[in-house]
Amino acid sequence: MTQDEMKKNAAWAALEYVPRHTVVGVGTGSTVNHFIDALATIKNDIKGAVSSSVQSTEKMRALGIEVLDLNDVDSFSVYVDGADEINPQHHMIKGGGAALTREKIVAAVADKFICIVDASKQVDVLGKFPLPVEVIPMARNYVARELTKLGGRPVWRDKVVTDNGNIILDVFDLKIVDPIALEQQINQITGVVCNGIFAMRPANLVLVGTAEGTQVLS
Ligand code: A5P
Repeated sequence: MTQDEMKKNAAWAALEYVPRHTVVGVGTGSTVNHFIDALATIKNDIKGAVSSSVQSTEKMRALGIEVLDLNDVDSFSVYVDGADEINPQHHMIKGGGAALTREKIVAAVADKFICIVDASKQVDVLGKFPLPVEVIPMARNYVARELTKLGGRPVWRDKVVTDNGNIILDVFDLKIVDPIALEQQINQITGVVCNGIFAMRPANLVLVGTAEGTQVLS
């Protein structure tokens, strides 16, 4: 079974956890693209979706799923998204697709975060995947120097501008032993919009696509 087939299995399994006749939060990425295909099959049974990126919005609209403005939605129960890494505490690194800020905002509003991944995303300690940090463009070098002081090796992601008009620094060589503390510490650097550690708000449920089927971790 290919990695993409495992992603697809996890994504379609998430459909079972989507309450009907409510709004659904939708993440970004190749795993979520499978979820959006699945969601389209029940599009008449949901009130609509709140999106975490232009990319997901365009895909949903093309499939006839109504996309709502988050400012018009006070609450909703489920947010479904992928991850670049996830540890046993369900802390994640996200932002490989540069959508981390909107993902964190939509996740913050949801009652429940359902993470859909293939087995390759599971790690004991976060940090092998370079940590994405969204930065205001004029603060790029300052933030890079501050991230270096924290022991990381920031690299400017070439030619990438986020949906919010900012840039991404990918921080290599971090061994993230205390994800909550590092998430807070990086947020304190002036010029940082958001960092890709999702630990203060971890996933509530993880669906792992494996060659043997989908594993449910709560
Ligand atoms: C998007 O910015 C990311 O947070 C994605 O959720 C993450 O990179 C997972 O992507 P894939 O599903 O494509 O692996």
